[in-house]
Amino acid sequence: MRLSRYFLPVLKETPAEAQIVSHRYMLRAGMIKQASAGIYSWLPLGYRVLRKIEDIIHDEQQRAGHIPLLMPTLQSADLWRESGRYEAYGEEMLRITDRHDRDMLYTPTAEELITDIFRANVSSYKDLPLTLYQIQWKFRDEIRPRFGVMRGREFYMKDGYNFDLTKEDALHAYNRHLVSYLRTYERMGLQAIPMRADSGPIGGDDTHEFLVLAETGESEVFYDSEITDLKFGDREIDYDSHEQCRAVLEEFTSRYARTDETHDEALFNQVPEERRRTARGIEVGQIFYFGTKYSEPMGATVSDGEGNQVPVHMGSHGIGVSRLLGAIIEASHDDKGIIWPEGVTPFHCGIVNLKSGDEAADAACDKIYAALRALGLDPLYDDTNDRAGAKFATMDLIGLPWRITVGPRGLKNGVVELTSRRTGESEELPPEEAVAKVAKIYGVAQG
Ligand SMILES: Nc1ncnc2c1ncn2[C@@H]1O[C@H](COP(=O)(O)OP(=O)(O)OP(=O)(O)O)[C@@H](O)[C@H]1O
Ligand SMILES: [Mg+2]
Repeated sequence: MRLSRYFLPVLKETPAEAQIVSHRYMLRAGMIKQASAGIYSWLPLGYRVLRKIEDIIHDEQQRAGHIPLLMPTLQSADLWRESGRYEAYGEEMLRITDRHDRDMLYTPTAEELITDIFRANVSSYKDLPLTLYQIQWKFRDEIRPRFGVMRGREFYMKDGYNFDLTKEDALHAYNRHLVSYLRTYERMGLQAIPMRADSGPIGGDDTHEFLVLAETGESEVFYDSEITDLKFGDREIDYDSHEQCRAVLEEFTSRYARTDETHDEALFNQVPEERRRTARGIEVGQIFYFGTKYSEPMGATVSDGEGNQVPVHMGSHGIGVSRLLGAIIEASHDDKGIIWPEGVTPFHCGIVNLKSGDEAADAACDKIYAALRALGLDPLYDDTNDRAGAKFATMDLIGLPWRITVGPRGLKNGVVELTSRRTGESEELPPEEAVAKVAKIYGVAQG
């Protein structure tokens, strides 16, 4: 993309309504624009990151054997009356009446609809296990939407649902989700710690929330500092293996880590004092096992192969897709702007032309741009006539992890500059080597 042809409405001034850094930077970098309280338009730069995050989630879900589908945002209240949640959900549910006076609602989550799809189509244990998921907009009429996309009213969420014959199988699905979530967040450059949580209106006993530590987080968290040393990394895992998935769950949940809702002072005090930590965290996901809470009232049963009809064991598993943008920025920024982890960056590399209009500089930039694109990478080339200082400020604000700076003076010596946004370190090298280095960072092979 050439900046002169892009739509990147960056703001010089810090918008007064933004209280936390991620909200400020998302507005200043032209990523989002508020449409009404807690509801945002996703401008091109923000939309690119949203899609990157979505891609990683799809990839990791399908690696774990889960199947994508898409359900509507507007649902009939009748289904929710079957489970009893139409009355129970409260004011967060946006209720709508259509022209025929039928009660509808904007989905805050989708256990009922997915259970309806299941019961209409699956009747035998032979079709299990089954996990279906979607990435779809949700609406919760939050009393105090704030912090930009962190607590919106309309927000983008991955929600997955497992259907299993037995409790044991459903707990395997739970463990499998935990593993896939660990991989998902790490690919986004995040450490998200599974913490024992409270189930809220979804219901059920077994549940963990994934929290990203950040001063601006809304949850108070208590944990054993050893937990922050754990890393899933690039280990291989067989998602069908109950043992392997359970071992990961045990590794990542055996140390004390709880949110204020489930915090137990006596248990916490058993952690050696020097390892006890109290901090704040952002909830970026949650997994639940709730057994037959929905399958029983809604009649989602299968034949068990021994002549019985039994309700299936279920769980649901959510990731806050739009909230993740805020969480990643809270975890990765400095006073100049965002610092995107490579896995989610909207463009892989910036190209700054220090003297647009200079023949040699223009030609070198075009060549670098074409070479990066030929490798399947997306560079953002600042080909405008702005001053160098303004170009650097924009690149720093929007946070591309790598920048190639091209100017007539360097080119006379046959070099350009490659700069890391994270460390600020620069090195001078020939243009082809700068391209090769960026290719290597992103793990793409040069032909
Ligand atoms: N209002 C919201 N705005 C943005 N993301 C949200 C919002 N509510 C929930 N999420 C995200 O969706 C994920 C799954 O939804 P879940 O039902 O677990 O939310 P929740 O526990 O009610 O969230 P919270 O406690 O923050 O209100 C959450 O882990 C969170 O990351
Ligand atoms: Mg939750």
